[in-house]
Amino acid sequence: MKTFSKSKQLRSAITRDKLNGKRVAFVPTMGNLHEGHIQLVRRAKQVADIVVVSIFVNPLQFGANEDLDNYPRTLAADKEKLFAEGVNYLLYPDVEEIYPEGMDQQTLVVVPDLSDTLCGASRPGHFAGVATVVNKLFQIVQPDTAIFGKKDFQQLAIIEKMVKDLCMPIDIIGEETARDVDGLALSSRNGYLTEEQRSIAPALHKTLLDCREAIACGFDSYQELEDYCTEALKNAGFEPDYFSVRDAVTLGEVTGDTEQIVILAAAKLGTPRLIDNVTLTLN
Ligand code: PAJ
Repeated sequence: MKTFSKSKQLRSAITRDKLNGKRVAFVPTMGNLHEGHIQLVRRAKQVADIVVVSIFVNPLQFGANEDLDNYPRTLAADKEKLFAEGVNYLLYPDVEEIYPEGMDQQTLVVVPDLSDTLCGASRPGHFAGVATVVNKLFQIVQPDTAIFGKKDFQQLAIIEKMVKDLCMPIDIIGEETARDVDGLALSSRNGYLTEEQRSIAPALHKTLLDCREAIACGFDSYQELEDYCTEALKNAGFEPDYFSVRDAVTLGEVTGDTEQIVILAAAKLGTPRLIDNVTLTLN
């Protein structure tokens, strides 16, 4: 595995590979890698000859009162994991490399509507930060395909829309959510949970599954379900941000045209904010 801190050098290596007919898959991350990230890397290996991973904690997607400085940085352990998976190239740039002129004068990529709802409503500017940095990373890596986790369902939808709207020749693959045995979606933020919070945390996934079960059984008063599940999360010890039943494509309300439903939730458990979702295909 070769590690690059400079975009230009990574670009030269990839240009050579592409001239040799190699297909390139890309997995962008912010590091502190767990089995969920590794699952994306394995998928990348299945669909391409060259696998590129980036580790970059992107300041542009963190709000002023969010955990940018405290975001876990574990480069040595991350490198070992990526090496063990046979990753070809790791891009590990510093902030200067990605934002040479600072953040204030930055051109932004904004995906309207999809970015304003759910997590976007409580984290203004977050998804513009994500879309902008992913766009930059795509320009640097120029992958044939890129893999994102369905755990961040809204992020995946926004990236898919950006790629479509900006005619980027990149296949976006959504990979299933990796979970602990008790159902808790793996996340870098789980490390901040106390022992007690960790024992409560699986209730988030459990509540999503209960909601899906009710819908699958024909219950279609979504507002009632949302209220009931929000209350259930509060009773379990969460501070819910949202619990929403949506159309999986538009992330808007479920309509007669909806083919797949997604149920999404975000809730704080102490300081950490956890998110998760489940889908249900209607027939
Ligand atoms: P990060 O949180 O490090 O996640 C990197 C990728 O791993 C994302 O596509 C995310 O959806 C996926 N992922 C995280 N937990 C997962 C799990 N339990 N199962 C499956 N996939 C999982 O998401 C980001 O970084 C950033 O916003 C980024 C896209 C890199 C832009 O800065």
